[in-house]
Amino acid sequence: MIKFSERLERLSYSQTFVMSNKAREMKASGIDVISLTLGEPDFDVPDVIKKAAIQAIEENYSHYSPVPGFLELRKAISNKLKRDNNLEFKESQICVSNGAKQAIVNVLGALLNDGDEVILPVPYWVSYDEMVKLMGGSSVFIKTSYATDFKMTAEQLEEAITPNTKILLYSSPCNPSGSYYTYDELKALAEVIAKHPHLIVISDEIYEYINYETTHKSIAVFPEIKDQVVVINGMSKGYAMTGWRLGYSAAPEWLAPALDKIQGQMTSGANSVAQRAAITALETDPKEFRYMVDAFQSRRNLVYYRMKTLPGFKVLLPKSAFYFYPDISFYLGKTLNGTKINNADDFAMFLLETAHVGCVGGVSFGSPECVRFSYAASESDLTKAMDRLAHTLENAVIS
Ligand SMILES: Cc1ncc(COP(=O)(O)O)c(C=O)c1O
Repeated sequence: MIKFSERLERLSYSQTFVMSNKAREMKASGIDVISLTLGEPDFDVPDVIKKAAIQAIEENYSHYSPVPGFLELRKAISNKLKRDNNLEFKESQICVSNGAKQAIVNVLGALLNDGDEVILPVPYWVSYDEMVKLMGGSSVFIKTSYATDFKMTAEQLEEAITPNTKILLYSSPCNPSGSYYTYDELKALAEVIAKHPHLIVISDEIYEYINYETTHKSIAVFPEIKDQVVVINGMSKGYAMTGWRLGYSAAPEWLAPALDKIQGQMTSGANSVAQRAAITALETDPKEFRYMVDAFQSRRNLVYYRMKTLPGFKVLLPKSAFYFYPDISFYLGKTLNGTKINNADDFAMFLLETAHVGCVGGVSFGSPECVRFSYAASESDLTKAMDRLAHTLENAVIS
């Protein structure tokens, strides 16, 4: 019997895929399931971007691109970082990858040795902990909760730092909580980070445009930590280009060549056609794509007014991204229609099997007392889903 590597044995399957697969299987067997499990915009790629891709094919962009991406794209990213975030990054500091996911793995791979600690504020995006394990690191968690809008404080960060800490990794706007850090909160975090010059921050800003309150702020704006911050962003969420697989890192000058080196041996440059299309996307005024954010906002409002009346749900109005992350600790340890609910994953499974609404339990986001609902779905599906949840929970026999 051939044994798998210890590296593989350390990894878990993503609960998002477990729940979405189960929802798909139920649908295939004829059950009318509404799946609110996946984190991707339900919009088509905007026409202007599609046209740029078609033109790139016709112009024969069919060869390998440079490992960190076409220079014109890196220039467009550099301009975008200046235009939207007031950040100065040269083209040589940017590496275009197969999604933000690969951009994050590149940084972890370039920096982590076995046993190095990576601080993850909870809740974290499911893949972070698994990526850290894959690269030999060890995650250290900062607990946050419903009561603190799921955000870490500067004091919590200071306490979590040890001599083995190498990286702080978080997303703002946050998947799964829908919170984002304000300028003042980032400033307080930056003051702590500046005291620890060997600490590197990976700031995942992939949901930047999906903010209903304000323009996005990046922690990279603070000059005192300029050499410690890697900004991660990409085309998946703001441009509905998930399947085109394009993300990027903007890293300090000392780190950027290491990211190119690792990517060069793993996958080479990202898809050439998608890169050409991304130039057009980034050079277009972001207001042109705002219609998607407006739609998310009206769906968010629709769901919020329903979800806050669901029995046993404590829910915050999400200010960004496209997820609700209610605290359902009321149900933990109880029995619902004869099913014992030990954690949020059990509760998510109960909702799928009983209400035929798919969501993801919070265990793999680090919070066994919460569940995540994506509202990147049509208003009619969201209304139907809320009707079903209300019916199921209002009629459940709880003991
Ligand atoms: C916080 C966060 N970062 C990164 C990603 C991955 O983005 P990409 O599609 O660019 O790999 C996701 C996707 O769900 C995400 O939620």
